[in-house]
Amino acid sequence: MALTPSPLAYVPFVSVENMMKLVHRVGVETFLKELADRIEDDFRRWPLFDKTPRVAAHSADGVIELMPTSDGETYGFKYVNGHPKNMKDGLQTVTAFGLLASVETGYPVLLSEMTVLTALRTAAMSAMAARHLAHENARVMAMIGNGAQAEFQALGMKAVCGIDTVRLWDIDRRATDKVVRNLEGSGLKVVACDSAEEAMEGAQIVTTCTADKQFATILTDNMVGAGVHLNAVGGDCPGKTELHRDILARSTIFVEYPEQTRIEGEIQQMDPDHPVTELWQVITGDAPGRTGPDQLTLFDSVGFAVEDFSALTYVRDKLEGTDLFDKLDLLADPDDPRDLFGMLQRAAP
Ligand SMILES: NC(=O)c1ccc[n+]([C@@H]2O[C@H](COP(=O)([O-])OP(=O)(O)OC[C@H]3O[C@@H](n4cnc5c(N)ncnc54)[C@H](O)[C@@H]3O)[C@@H](O)[C@H]2O)c1
Repeated sequence: MALTPSPLAYVPFVSVENMMKLVHRVGVETFLKELADRIEDDFRRWPLFDKTPRVAAHSADGVIELMPTSDGETYGFKYVNGHPKNMKDGLQTVTAFGLLASVETGYPVLLSEMTVLTALRTAAMSAMAARHLAHENARVMAMIGNGAQAEFQALGMKAVCGIDTVRLWDIDRRATDKVVRNLEGSGLKVVACDSAEEAMEGAQIVTTCTADKQFATILTDNMVGAGVHLNAVGGDCPGKTELHRDILARSTIFVEYPEQTRIEGEIQQMDPDHPVTELWQVITGDAPGRTGPDQLTLFDSVGFAVEDFSALTYVRDKLEGTDLFDKLDLLADPDDPRDLFGMLQRAAP
């Protein structure tokens, strides 16, 4: 008997090659802008998402995490790692892939690379938060940590917030030189600096995006002036932070999901009940964002599952009418759903 798998048996798979083609077809900045809007739309309907702090497996060298969520119709999860020590072995700090499934049937509907997509979603998320929290007329950004995420962060702030200058600092000059090269022709004025202090001169938005497994102090209190918006991306694990706690003490702190951020974010340095504002409430108008020109705002970013859900559903929608995916034979699909063994038997060589 001929085997005729149902269409559900083949799961659309977005390879790294196809993800890169998609991003170029859409345009990097348009992609970042549209993704920021998509994340914002999902934050607007935050209460209906099924939420849990991510499931983290820690080791001496890094962490492997699973990040699930669902809006009741679609379920999604991301697998992601964070291994700061990888860089010296010629490996990436962060790699990821993710999946969407139908809540109704439980069948997967999309499998995708997410290493590139995570960099895009993190930048889109940072920029979306800055759109609500930074000065409206912010034009200069400091980028502390010039690794894999850096160019995405700069272009996200340009596309969404209208940044025209990025000032760079990294302890490794080769990383800064790479960003300078990669952002040539982007329309951004790019300034390589010799210290974090120098990078922060005149910056209204400061992004920290470094990788270290231990508590680090990338910024101290005296370095951060009034009115700045801090976008702290690199502190995202227990024992892994970037900001001195004195900065936190004088900041108004905005978070994704407090239950996760209190474990992983900069605020792990503070009391368990230290006041924070959930960003989704700023978006819905239920909580204030920036309330004055001198206020120091801090987005204590750790990365939450809803953002990956937004990124995957955005990609799913963008794939429609394109050939930028493969059909992956991922799901065993016997003609008689109870005859899984029979299907195996018939496939005997
Ligand atoms: N919050 C989120 O949603 C989110 C998402 C993705 C990645 N991250 C985190 O962001 C960080 C950066 O990720 P990446 O992929 O760009 O890593 P990466 O390893 O590619 O780059 C990190 C850079 O930081 C630099 N650095 C280290 N210590 C520094 C210091 N004291 N001052 C200045 N620069 C310093 C390194 O030289 C390196 O160039 C990681 O910690 C990662 O876990 C967070």
